[in-house]
Amino acid sequence: MPKLIVVTREGEEREIDGDAGLSVMEVIRDAGIDEILALCGGCCSCATCHIHIDPAFVDKLPPISEDENDLLDSSADRDETSRLSCQVEFGDALDGMKVRIAAED
Ligand code: FES
Repeated sequence: MPKLIVVTREGEEREIDGDAGLSVMEVIRDAGIDEILALCGGCCSCATCHIHIDPAFVDKLPPISEDENDLLDSSADRDETSRLSCQVEFGDALDGMKVRIAAED
């Protein structure tokens, strides 16, 4: 099972197993990390699932959609590693990826 490393807002690092095919948001939420609110349930309309991705993995991710890009623009914590975790499908290609939960807006 591929592993995801999650850094919480307090800086705690947790390594969790994730099912391939789930979104990164679902993997984080299913591990009991409640800093990801995911208010819209993953339909790309709330931006409360904002994370920062390990730069080494940025090229392995699906391209950012216009909707995701617009939503991320509303976040003060956006940078070039920002993604909405509900829009990134987890799987073997992302095994070992480290993500940091973005600051709350
Ligand atoms: S859960 Fe709402 S945009 Fe990702």
